[in-house]
Amino acid sequence: MSSPNFSAWFRCFAGCGATYPLTEILVRCRGCGGLLDVVHDEAAWQERSADAWRALLSARASSAAFLDQSGVWAQREWVLPALTDADIVSLGEGRVPLVPMPTLGRELGCEHLWIKQCGHNPTGSFKDVGMTALVSMVQALRRNHRIAAIACASTGDTSAALSAYAARAGIPAIVFLPADKVSDEQLAQPLSSFATTCALDTDFDGCMRLVAEFCGRHGVYLANSMNPLRIEGQKTLSVEICQQLGWQVPDWIIVPSGNLGHVTAIGKGFKLLRTVGLIDRLPRLCAAQAQASAPLYAAFKNEWRFHPTLAGPTQASAIRIGHPVNVDKAIATLKDFAGVVEQASEDEITQAWLQGDRHGLYADPHTGVALAALRHLREQDTVRSHERVVVISTAHGLKFSGQKLRHHRPERLESPLRTQENVDPERLEQRGVLPHNSPQIVAPRIDALEDVLLPRLQRASS
Ligand SMILES: Cc1ncc(COP(=O)(O)O)c(C=O)c1O
Ligand SMILES: [Zn+2]
Repeated sequence: MSSPNFSAWFRCFAGCGATYPLTEILVRCRGCGGLLDVVHDEAAWQERSADAWRALLSARASSAAFLDQSGVWAQREWVLPALTDADIVSLGEGRVPLVPMPTLGRELGCEHLWIKQCGHNPTGSFKDVGMTALVSMVQALRRNHRIAAIACASTGDTSAALSAYAARAGIPAIVFLPADKVSDEQLAQPLSSFATTCALDTDFDGCMRLVAEFCGRHGVYLANSMNPLRIEGQKTLSVEICQQLGWQVPDWIIVPSGNLGHVTAIGKGFKLLRTVGLIDRLPRLCAAQAQASAPLYAAFKNEWRFHPTLAGPTQASAIRIGHPVNVDKAIATLKDFAGVVEQASEDEITQAWLQGDRHGLYADPHTGVALAALRHLREQDTVRSHERVVVISTAHGLKFSGQKLRHHRPERLESPLRTQENVDPERLEQRGVLPHNSPQIVAPRIDALEDVLLPRLQRASS
């Protein structure tokens, strides 16, 4: 059922004042070419009390209806209120755990640390919560418009999300990926959903330019995050976080950042909560970037003056973006949230995801970027030890198992280590090598197993 008391429309973010109905197929302002924003009738939201909203969200959290179980559509009045249930294309996204991490927090000097596990979404990243909104709108638009396909450029996760949601809706999907710059696991995702998958010998920024041109020429619907509909789904994450904290506001949210849609969306979610009276203050935001690809960090250090860069290689391949499309929105958001930007080197990223893994996270490299940023912020005392910190884990580590294996497997290690069979990780760590845990090659006999395992058991119990 749609929510007739509520309404939303497009407004030009560049400030020319143009507005458009959400039923128009638009990605940029027709007047000035600026980015668009979705704005809502906030006065209509405010006619309901904060208590009434809280009660509605609690009721939906225990509802048996499939759409209520989606973390996005449980908030449908705040997302795309004109959509009907029949329009909605959901795979059961959102409602991902907010996991308290007391022992990891202690190691990082944080008394209150949580990880928001966005990798627990249907295709393994936060992109699903935005894509359900976009593909649902396309489903609705297809009643009156011919839309032959939806397309996106991607560093891996957007293409996985688009291809799955488009497959769910029966709409053809086309994805442009930078060849050899996404993990094999990520490449497997659009292939498996039978999306037309084009690997281009360029970087993400090159794919982005080409997909925008292709869509413009051929009436294909563009699904990249310059399309503001995705941000409407992604902002629900902030509501979830506050709900999971008993409607308390954390002090800090740390967000791995590339194209800068996510940090924008998270800010938008907190502002919405304040508008409806569910919270009375905002958290601070940190956008975390990989040093090899950190144009926003450079802008932060240069009084927010932004210049695109050529993004260098990083294991955090999904945020290898030199010309983020949402940069203006993100800078405006960070200014409103007393935001900061941090960067992390490749070694710091590896150390951080390894440290997370030791606490059971199976962290992807982007989560590593955010954890490494938190380490920096604690070292500077920008984040104080008593502050409540939420680190956004944007993708599931299973998408990066190849990277993890390359790290842990002995035959792939540097030559001085390769000669050692059954490398004991603790001994290597004592030699300053980054922690790794290679498989032990053991003859299938009890005495051989005892040789390997008993010393470890002894060490563990001493
Ligand atoms: C795993 C992962 N983390 C972080 C990001 C960054 O999000 P955004 O591009 O919205 O800044 C992306 C996507 O680009 C991603 O796939
Ligand atoms: Zn405009």
